[in-house]
Amino acid sequence: MAGEFDAHERQMWAGAAKAYAGSFAALCAGAAEALLDAAGVREGVRVLDVGTGPGTIAAAALARGAEVVAVDAEPSMVELAAANAPGAEVRHGVLPELPFADGSFDAVVGNFVVNHVEDPWAALTELRRVARPGGRLAVTVWHATANEAMSLFNQAMDEAGVVRPSYPAPMSFTRTVEGLCGLLEQAGLAEVAGRELAWTHREDPEVWWSGPAGGVAGIGRVMSEQTPGMYARVKTAYDRLAAGRLGGDGLIGLPAVAVLASGRCQQVTGGHSVVAGR
Ligand SMILES: C[S@@+](CC[C@H](N)C(=O)[O-])C[C@H]1O[C@@H](n2cnc3c(N)ncnc32)[C@H](O)[C@@H]1O
Repeated sequence: MAGEFDAHERQMWAGAAKAYAGSFAALCAGAAEALLDAAGVREGVRVLDVGTGPGTIAAAALARGAEVVAVDAEPSMVELAAANAPGAEVRHGVLPELPFADGSFDAVVGNFVVNHVEDPWAALTELRRVARPGGRLAVTVWHATANEAMSLFNQAMDEAGVVRPSYPAPMSFTRTVEGLCGLLEQAGLAEVAGRELAWTHREDPEVWWSGPAGGVAGIGRVMSEQTPGMYARVKTAYDRLAAGRLGGDGLIGLPAVAVLASGRCQQVTGGHSVVAGR
């Protein structure tokens, strides 16, 4: 049964596919190629993309010639992913219980999903279960340090005096290379390795604002609960802060830092681990 945090996540993403695809998805796409490399996704590899959202990673895996299955907990995402990644099998699926037999995939990937589940350890254990022994698993999360991309919204809300509601929290892990690698090891992965990914996403400030304005993610949920007056104050603060970052191309630079961790899957039975070669 879903806990409070998972139930909150279901509400947060409900109907949000188009607004997410038109805003934050382009930022998340910055990790796509490194994630697929870490999972060894190439021609002929059967890969599962979990929490596929609008299907960015699924489409990138298809472009590599992989055989792709993708799942998401949010029906509007499933619909959009199916349209954006024709050729992939896209299904509804909710971590930590996926509708696949043990060992169904050569590779399993999740781009910015493990930070959206109540029990990240249970989610990773399930991802390991559906990968074949010897297969690879790779996931990303945002780094624990304030990502400047999101801090622009937080700064604007602070300036406007928004009081943050208290939402349910997930079981936490430290969102650093060590923290995410430790979680993969606890979930039974072998040969775990991780690194930081840093890039600067350039975006039109109005497109960037369309994320919270469209109710996307936690930040969008907070904005959707503001009075019209408070909403207008946040937007005014955001416009001023964004103007200060505007480049000659009319775009703002949004520095992002993610953590990528990967490992080799193994069967874990009665405390014994078995890793098969590729
Ligand atoms: C930040 S978005 C990332 C989407 C996509 N991977 C990308 O790179 O753009 C998180 C996605 O995870 C999905 N999600 C959240 N909790 C989930 C769960 N328990 N099981 C499956 N998908 C989940 C959301 O519906 C959303 O589409």
